[in-house]
Amino acid sequence: EDVSVPRGSSRDLVEVLSANNKKALVLFASQTGTAEDYSHKFAKEFQSRFSIPTMCGDLADYDYENLNEIFTSVDGFQLVIFFTATYGEGEPPDNAVEFFDYLENECDDLSNLKFSCFGLGNSTYEFYNAMGKKTVSTLTEKGATLVGELGLGDDGRGTMDEDYMAWKDGLFDILKDQLSLEEHELVYEPQIKIEESVLTIDSPEVSLGEPDAKYINPSQEEAQSLNEGPFDHTHPYLAPITVSRELFNSDSRHCIHAEFDISDSNLKYTTGDHLAIWPSNSNEHVFKFLDILGLSEKKDVVIDIKSLDPTVHPHLISPSTYEAVVRHYLEISGPVSRQFVGSVAQFAPTEQAKAHASKLGKDKELFHEEVTGRYLNIADLLHVLSDGVKWTSIPFAFIIESVAHLQPRYYSISSSSLSDKQSIHVTAVVEQEKYPNVDHIVTGVATNLLFNIQLAQNKVSNVKPVVTYDLAGPRQKFAPFKLPVHVRRSTFKLPSNPATPIICIGPGTGVAPFRGFIRERVAQTANDISVGKTLLFFGCRNSNEDFLYKDEFVDYSKKLGEKFELVTAFSRETAEKVYVQHKMLERAKEISDLLNDGAFFYVCGDAARMARDVQNVLIRIMMSERKVTESIATDMVKNLRVLNRYQEDVW
Ligand code: FAD
Ligand code: 2AM
Repeated sequence: EDVSVPRGSSRDLVEVLSANNKKALVLFASQTGTAEDYSHKFAKEFQSRFSIPTMCGDLADYDYENLNEIFTSVDGFQLVIFFTATYGEGEPPDNAVEFFDYLENECDDLSNLKFSCFGLGNSTYEFYNAMGKKTVSTLTEKGATLVGELGLGDDGRGTMDEDYMAWKDGLFDILKDQLSLEEHELVYEPQIKIEESVLTIDSPEVSLGEPDAKYINPSQEEAQSLNEGPFDHTHPYLAPITVSRELFNSDSRHCIHAEFDISDSNLKYTTGDHLAIWPSNSNEHVFKFLDILGLSEKKDVVIDIKSLDPTVHPHLISPSTYEAVVRHYLEISGPVSRQFVGSVAQFAPTEQAKAHASKLGKDKELFHEEVTGRYLNIADLLHVLSDGVKWTSIPFAFIIESVAHLQPRYYSISSSSLSDKQSIHVTAVVEQEKYPNVDHIVTGVATNLLFNIQLAQNKVSNVKPVVTYDLAGPRQKFAPFKLPVHVRRSTFKLPSNPATPIICIGPGTGVAPFRGFIRERVAQTANDISVGKTLLFFGCRNSNEDFLYKDEFVDYSKKLGEKFELVTAFSRETAEKVYVQHKMLERAKEISDLLNDGAFFYVCGDAARMARDVQNVLIRIMMSERKVTESIATDMVKNLRVLNRYQEDVW
C-alpha cells in the first residue's frame, strides 16, 4: 500500500490516483453535505460491487488540468462519477465554483473522459437540478462521454433516496453491459479502523465533541486563534448566545429568537446572509442509539479512529468516545435510508431481524409503510426489527461509515449588519410534530437544541421540552450556552440604493430576513439617509399566537413613519384561509406602482407552496394592473428575476 500521497497532500489527480492505485473517481459538489454523503456511499458500494478501487474526493481539493489524462495516464482507469448539488437559485455549491469556472473558461478537450452524474436538487425551486444538468452538458460539449443517464435526485418531493437507488441500480446494469464490469455480492469492507484506547475520558487530548481540533486543550496562543477565523464549513466559531427568547404565545408551538455574540471574533456578515448552526443530538436520541448497539455501558470508552485508506478522511476528531461520536457527528434522529437497512441486515442479532431487514431493504413499498411512514429513526428501527435484542455485532466503523454526518442547519439572519454589528440574530421555529398513528413526537435536532438553551438561559422551569440536551458539554465548556456557527454568504440582498422601495413577502419564519432589512432601514434613517418604502406582507395563523415580532413592528413603524407598512394575513381567524397572497391582491395597484418606481420584490419562507403561489399572484396582478396577457405578465416577472429585482430566500 502506497501512502505517500494521502488526501490533501497533492492537487494532481493523476498523481493521487496512481499513488493510491485507484481506478475510479467520485467527485462531489456539495453545499450542505448531502451530495458528499451520497458520493462516499456510492464510492464504497461501487468499489465493493465491481472490485474497482475507487477514490472519493472534494471538487475543491484538486486541479483539473489533467482530468482528460486520467484515462491515459492512470493504468486501468475506468470512470469518473460526479455528485452535483444545486444550491439556491441554480448556483453551484461553494466547493465547485472553481471547477465550473475551469470547465467553462479553460478546458478545451475531454474526449477521453467517461463519466456518470447524479444531481441533487429540489423540484420546488425554479432551477431544478441546474448544476447536474450543466455538468452533463458542459462535459459532453468538451467531448466527454456520459455513461448511463443523469440521475435527478429530488429533495422537494422527498424522494432523494429512492431517486438515488433507482439511478444507481440502473447505472450498475449499464456498467456491466457497456464497460463489461463484473458485479459481486456486496460485502462490507471497512475503510476506517476503530480501536479502543488505553486513554480515559478525562485525558486532555480526547475529543468530547469539540467542533474543531483546535478547541481540544488549546495552548494560550491557540485559544487566541480560535476567535480569528476564517470561519467556514470546516471551522466554525463557538459563539456565545447572549439573548434568546420565545416568540410564540402557545403551549404547543415554539419559535426561538436567538442572538449570537460575535464581538470577540472577526466573524463578519452582511444583511441577508445565512447563519449555519452546528447542532448536537439530544440525550434521548443519543442514549437510545447507544443502547440498541449495546454500547450504553461503554459510552465513555475512548476510541482511536484511523483511516485504512489514505484517500479517506473521516470527519471526526480522534481519539474520542463512543458517546461523543454519536452525540456530535452522526445524523441519528432523521429518517433511515432503505440502503442502510439492507446493508445492516448482515449484522442482525437474530435470524428474524436479518430476514426482515433484508426484505425492507429490497421492498420500496414495504419500507415506506413500515419505516418512513412511521417516522422511525435508526435506533427505533433496529429496536423494532430485533424486538429489543441489542445489535452488538455491528462494527462501530460501519456505523461511522454508513450513517450520514450531522450537518449544520442554515437560518436566514434576522438582524442587520448595519444596526447589529456585534451580533447575529436568528428566528427558528421549533420542529416538533405529533403525527396521527405515530406514537412518538418527531423532533428536529437544531431547533430543539435552541429551544432547550432558551429554557435554560431564561430559567423557565414550568415547560418540559420533548427532548433534552447536554448543555454543559465541550461545546459549551468555555462559558455557558455557546454554539458553533459560521456564516454563509447569500445573494439575497437589499438594493444598493437605500431609496429604492422594497416589497417583502414573508409569512411565518419567512419574515426573518425582512426584520434584518427593516432594522437596516431604521439605522439608515437614524443616520439621515433617506430610505424608500418598505411594504411587508406577513402571515401567520393567529394574531395572538404566532405573530412574530408584533411589538417590534410597532416600534419600527414609529421610527420609519410612512416609509414602512405592515400588511398582515391571519389564516386561522376566519372560516376562510387568508394568506399573504390574498392580501397582495387587495394591494394590487400599489404593488404595481411600486414596481413601476423600480421597487425590488422579495419572497422568503416556504418553498413548497407559498413561493410559487406568490409568484402566480404577482403575475395576476401584472395582468390586471398593466392590462397585459398572461404570457406577457409572466415574462415581466421573469425579467424582474433577471434584473435581480425579484429575489427568493426559500427552503
Ligand atoms: P432536522 O433534525 O433537520 O429535521 C428536519 C425535519 O425532519 C423536521 O421537521 C423533523 O421533525 C423531521 N424528522 C425528524 N426525524 C424524522 C424521522 N425519523 N423521520 C422523518 N422525519 C423526521 N428555519 C427557520 O426556522 N428559520 C429560518 O430563518 C430558516 N432559514 C433557512 C434558510 C435556508 C437557506 C435554509 C436551507 C433553511 C432555513 N431554515 C430556516 C430551515 C432550517 O435550516 C432547518 O431545516 C429547520 O430549522 C429544521 O432543523 P432541525 O435540525 O430542527 O430539524
Ligand atoms: P395555515 O397553516 O393556516 O394554512 C405561516 O406558516 C403562515 O403561512 C400560516 O398562516 C399558514 O397558514 C400560511 N400558509 C400556508 N400555506 C400557504 C401558502 N401556500 N401560501 C401562503 N401562505 C401559506
